[in-house]
Amino acid sequence: MNKKVEFLYLQQEDCVKAGGYDMEGTMKATERSFFLHGKGDYILPHKPVIRWGGPETEETTGRIMSMPSFLGGLEYEEELKEKGLLGPVNTSGIKWIPSKPHNPQKYGLPRANAIIIIVDPETLMPVSVMDGALVSAMRTGAASGVAVKYLANPKSEVMGLIGGSVQGITQTHAFKCGAPNLKLCKVYDLNKETSEKFCERMKKEIPDMEFRVVESAEEAFRDSDVISTATMAKKPYVDGSWYKKGALHCEISFWDTPAEALTYVDKVVVDDFDAVSGHGVDVSYRAVKDGVIPREKVTDLGKTVIGEIQVRESEDDIIFFNPIGLGIHDLSEAHRVYTNAKKMGIGKTLPLWENPILG
Ligand SMILES: NC(=O)c1ccc[n+]([C@@H]2O[C@H](COP(=O)([O-])OP(=O)(O)OC[C@H]3O[C@@H](n4cnc5c(N)ncnc54)[C@H](O)[C@@H]3O)[C@@H](O)[C@H]2O)c1
Repeated sequence: MNKKVEFLYLQQEDCVKAGGYDMEGTMKATERSFFLHGKGDYILPHKPVIRWGGPETEETTGRIMSMPSFLGGLEYEEELKEKGLLGPVNTSGIKWIPSKPHNPQKYGLPRANAIIIIVDPETLMPVSVMDGALVSAMRTGAASGVAVKYLANPKSEVMGLIGGSVQGITQTHAFKCGAPNLKLCKVYDLNKETSEKFCERMKKEIPDMEFRVVESAEEAFRDSDVISTATMAKKPYVDGSWYKKGALHCEISFWDTPAEALTYVDKVVVDDFDAVSGHGVDVSYRAVKDGVIPREKVTDLGKTVIGEIQVRESEDDIIFFNPIGLGIHDLSEAHRVYTNAKKMGIGKTLPLWENPILG
């Protein structure tokens, strides 16, 4: 019997060739995982986090997260198709994602790196090992993009962005996919050079939008229809009185918005409140824990994607989206990239073993 096991290794450049930097594709994969989450067709253990102190040290000394999951879809093949999403995943995987905040300044390296493993559902042997940094940043953008699609005012034209680094780039691509009428993005980053580089890059990548550096977070917020906070802020700076009526604010980082600001918003939406509570750093969790907002004010986006909960009830509703990031989104996107790579003959096939010495 042939006992050889091989998997497809995809370095980041392979992922890009296989469509990993195509936000329209990532949106389809991420909406698929929100849909299957809404249907309950997933397994998502709480992610273990290695950190060298309390939750606040994730922004100083760093952390390592390990995110295993299973995502189904076989039962919902027809519905996925009707919604124009990708087909079933029906397998499991894991993302290992370390974050070291000093990397960009000290070494010129990205803050986060990641490795993703996907397994064969029949044997549970690995079928792919790939760079996960791109997948992770793209699916984080797309989670906000799906929120924009379902929760923003349809006429949204102005975006405010705080944090113009890695996540700021994918947030902007995804916001534009979710709200194609966006015309202007105002960006504020503590580091002005980062904002300027962001604008230079984004003008080329989204030529029908204007990109403008602004001088404060308040300026980025005021009069914006959709807002993203994607920083490494260590203490809150957002003021709830800055929100325009009807705004949608997507906060993917952890300390930008104080719990009190959530009293200004009508609805809070997360990706999975159980996972948010398990990690214990998101402001939506802290606001509920401290009694600032009632638990009933918070819903999971998947329930809106499957049509069970209508979140926006009026043009004036202010909505706060606060995803913690789920392994099923990584798996869904990694599965899309892997499937494309296989079809296109991209990547290196590597053996796990020729013949296992103990098997
Ligand atoms: N929720 C999720 O699913 C998810 C997934 C990935 C990343 N994230 C979070 O996204 C955040 C950004 O990630 P990144 O890779 O872009 O980080 P990064 O280190 O590359 O960039 C962070 C940027 O934030 C800026 N910044 C720091 N404090 C600021 C402040 N008070 N005001 C304005 N700008 C400020 C920095 O100058 C820097 O440009 C991190 O907090 C990360 O944990 C969340």
